[in-house]
Amino acid sequence: MSIKPLVILPNPLLREVSRPVATVDDRIIELSNDMLKSMYHASGIGLAAIQIGVLLRLLVIDITGNDKPKNPRIFINPEVIWRSDEQNIYKEGCLSIPDYYAEIKRSRKVCVTYIERDGRKKEIEADGLLATCLQHEIDHLNGILFIDHISRLRRDIIIRKFKKKARNIEEGHMAI
Ligand code: NI
Repeated sequence: MSIKPLVILPNPLLREVSRPVATVDDRIIELSNDMLKSMYHASGIGLAAIQIGVLLRLLVIDITGNDKPKNPRIFINPEVIWRSDEQNIYKEGCLSIPDYYAEIKRSRKVCVTYIERDGRKKEIEADGLLATCLQHEIDHLNGILFIDHISRLRRDIIIRKFKKKARNIEEGHMAI
């Protein structure tokens, strides 16, 4: 298991659509372990494979708090098959858009099908934070970011800020 560097905005990879996982083999298990380790290291509650540069429909989630025992979940080829009309709002962030948070409205409940690490097909009905997290991560698999759910104006400001930051790093002007 190793910690992988995270793909950060405005890296164009974040806009790519990920491919389905064909077979759950050792490579996929190792990848999901790397993703979990990278997610815990960055204190995140969810991570999609694209965020460590792998274009596969695979995500990991652990919504338990820091002081609780870990509950890692792995979702291979997840698909939302139902979503509630009722919505709720969470203040979301993203490991690929560090230090930016915004209130996002999403379905309160979703039903998601996916493949387990043992290769079996499963279905989960998720509510609240888990539902929000699943929707946020499944968006990543389709090249969608949580800032796509805020106003165009706010999104443009954020993207501009991250582009400037990336440029500064490239040119070695980063203040320390
Ligand atoms: Ni994210």
